[in-house]
Amino acid sequence: MSQDHVLLTGGAGFIGSHVAAELAMRNVVPVLLDNFANSRRSVIGRLERITGHPVICEEADILDADALAGVFARYPINAVVHFAALKAVGESLERPLDYFQTNVSGLIGLMQAMQNAGVFTLVFSSSATVYGDTARLPIPETAPLGYKNPYGFTKLACEQVIEQAEEADNRWAIGRLRYFNPVGAHPSCLIGEDPNDSPNNLMPYIAKVAAGELPEVRIFGDDYPTPDGTGVRDYIHVCDLADGHLKSLDVLHREGRGHVVNLGTGRGHSVKEVVDAYSRAVGRDLPWSIHPRRDGDVAANWADPACAMDLLGFQATRDLDDMCRSSWNWIQASAGRE
Ligand code: UFG
Repeated sequence: MSQDHVLLTGGAGFIGSHVAAELAMRNVVPVLLDNFANSRRSVIGRLERITGHPVICEEADILDADALAGVFARYPINAVVHFAALKAVGESLERPLDYFQTNVSGLIGLMQAMQNAGVFTLVFSSSATVYGDTARLPIPETAPLGYKNPYGFTKLACEQVIEQAEEADNRWAIGRLRYFNPVGAHPSCLIGEDPNDSPNNLMPYIAKVAAGELPEVRIFGDDYPTPDGTGVRDYIHVCDLADGHLKSLDVLHREGRGHVVNLGTGRGHSVKEVVDAYSRAVGRDLPWSIHPRRDGDVAANWADPACAMDLLGFQATRDLDDMCRSSWNWIQASAGRE
C-alpha cells in the first residue's frame, strides 16, 4: 500500500512546518504548498534535516486553482491541513478585501479542488478569535461566536462555509481547530517562529528584546481586571499544537465526520508572567515598560480543553517555562543564520 500523503497548505509557515515534521516522523508524507509570503524557503532544507527525507514542496498561491489541481493530480493525497492564510489583525483592518480573498476564497477554492479530487478529509486552522468578545472563562466550544476585526470575520466565515458544506454533503469530515496562542519552537532548533517583519505578537517580540534587537517589552495595559492588571492568554507550545493536528487527522479518518475543538492548555498567563518566564529562560531580567491598552484586546481568554480531551484524546504537556526555553533556544540557534 502506498504511504499516506497529506497536503499542508502554508506548510512552510510556523505551525505548518511543525506539523510537517511530526507527520514525517510518523511515516506520513507531507506535501507542502506555500507561496513563501510569510515563510522562508530555507525551512524545506531544515525539515529535510529533521526528518532525514526529501521534502516535497510546491511553490504556489492558495488562490491558484490550476496549481492546486496539479498537486492533487501528482500525489496520492488522502487528507489536507489548511494553514495558508493571512493572520495579522492590524493589517486586516487596512486591507480587508485581501483578507476576504485569501482566507475565505482560498478555503473555498481548496475545497473545490479537494472535491474534484475526491478528497474529503480536512483539518482547518481556526482561531480563538472566533469567540469575539466572550465573557465566559474558560471558553468552551459552545460559547457564542463573533468577530472584532476583518481577520476574525474571515475565520468565522470559513467555519460557516465548512459547516454548510458538511451539512450539504456528508462525505466531508472536517476538523476545525481553534488555536489559542501558539508559541515555542521545535526541539531541533531548526524550525520556529520567524516573522518576515516586526512581530506583533508578544512572545516573538520578547524574543527580539532578549536577542538585543529591540530595547524593551512594551506591556499594553496594566489596568485590566486580572490578578496583576496585564492581559491573560492561553499560550500553547507549537509542538503540542502539532500533536493536536495529528490526533484530529486520526479521528477524522477513523470516524468519517467532523469536529470543532479548542487547542489550548486550559491555563491563562499574564503578560508579566510571560516576561518573567522568558527572563528565567534567558537568565536575566528583561526590560519592560507599561503602555496604553492595545485597541481590540480583551482582558483575558483561555480555553476549556475538555472537549479536545474527550474527542481527540488531546492534552498539552508543555508549560510556560518549556515554551520560553524552547523559544529562546531557537532564537539563539538562529542568530547569524540566514
Ligand atoms: N502584548 C503586549 N505587548 C506586545 C504584544 C502583545 O503587552 O508587544 C499583550 C497583548 O495586549 C495581549 C497579550 O500580550 O494581552 C498577547 O498578545 P498577542 O498579540 O501575542 O496575541 P493575541 O492574544 O492578541 O492574539 C492571538 C493571535 C490572533 C488571534 C488571537 C485569538 O495573534 O491571531 O490570539 O485569541 F486572533
